Amino acid sequence: TWSMRGYAEAAVEQIRAQVKDGHVICALSGGVDSAVAALLVHRAIGDRLRCIFVDNGVLRAGERQQVEDVFGAMFHLPLVTVDASRRFLGALAGVTDPERKRKIIGHEFIAVFEQEVERLAAHGARAKFLVQGTLYPDVIESVSFRGPSATIKSHHNVGGLPEKMNLSLVEPLRELFKDEVRQLGLELGLPEAIVRRQPFPGPGLAIRVLGEVTEERLAVLRRADTIVQEEVRAAGLYEKLWQGFAVLLPVRSVGVMGDERTYESTCAIRAVESTDGMTGDWARLPYDLLARLSSRIINEVRGINRVVYDISSKPPATIEWE
Ligand code: XMP
Repeated sequence: TWSMRGYAEAAVEQIRAQVKDGHVICALSGGVDSAVAALLVHRAIGDRLRCIFVDNGVLRAGERQQVEDVFGAMFHLPLVTVDASRRFLGALAGVTDPERKRKIIGHEFIAVFEQEVERLAAHGARAKFLVQGTLYPDVIESVSFRGPSATIKSHHNVGGLPEKMNLSLVEPLRELFKDEVRQLGLELGLPEAIVRRQPFPGPGLAIRVLGEVTEERLAVLRRADTIVQEEVRAAGLYEKLWQGFAVLLPVRSVGVMGDERTYESTCAIRAVESTDGMTGDWARLPYDLLARLSSRIINEVRGINRVVYDISSKPPATIEWE
């Protein structure tokens, strides 16, 4: 659209004026905000932007590949993928408390990111700036009040990094609402898969594997979640839902497969409608979709023999289970 083309041009000028000949780093998350912010900065200053994508071991199936395909192969952004899954999973071993999981992931993320920035600096690109995909509602929220989820759950972001590493923020989306960021993303040529992506929390699948996070349980959840993504899309409901995903419960129950007794994990399906994530209603998914989800997950995912549907709204429940 015209307005977004104009916005992009103005933002590019502003970034150039702010950054001058400095180097900028960006933590890509796979989400639309950091993606659009990175593309604007790349337009403005080219390869003086370096993007870092941290594979924390708690990503969904195909996520890392998608980031590498889109930002590396398609847009040619200077991108480093850091495979830190061992480090994250090591730090998470034995941890079951939700807040501890969140703290650990936030802490490890900062440590890994810092290390990578130092490595880039040693190669002559010492960054003075950090790109952040801060939106207008975040700006308002941080000056006036904190939304409930900000205080009930410690949200994971790159907060704390700028002061610690002496970085100035570049925030080219500060004046935009989410739907405007999506329009801008399309204008910049981002694929629909990223522009329309449902939100995914920074702590990733670690807060959807309830109880201890192990490689095995993550693999089970990934398979179930992939089925949820496929079936929700096939039913044409992906964009109608705020989020739809699978949660692996630390509960086993008895089942029967052929003539064999099974004693396996339970998978919960969570699907919510919401406009901002602050409140939300459980989605009235069609029964035939629920039936397909249940039979596919139980038949195709070893380790799950029961599927339940979460019919809790927010509040009083939250969207994520941890
Ligand atoms: P809750 O579970 O608090 O989630 O109802 C509200 C929305 O926020 C997302 N969420 C997060 N996003 N870092 C994020 O970037 C986090 O730590 C985090 N925790 C929850 C959640 O997916 C939902 O869209």
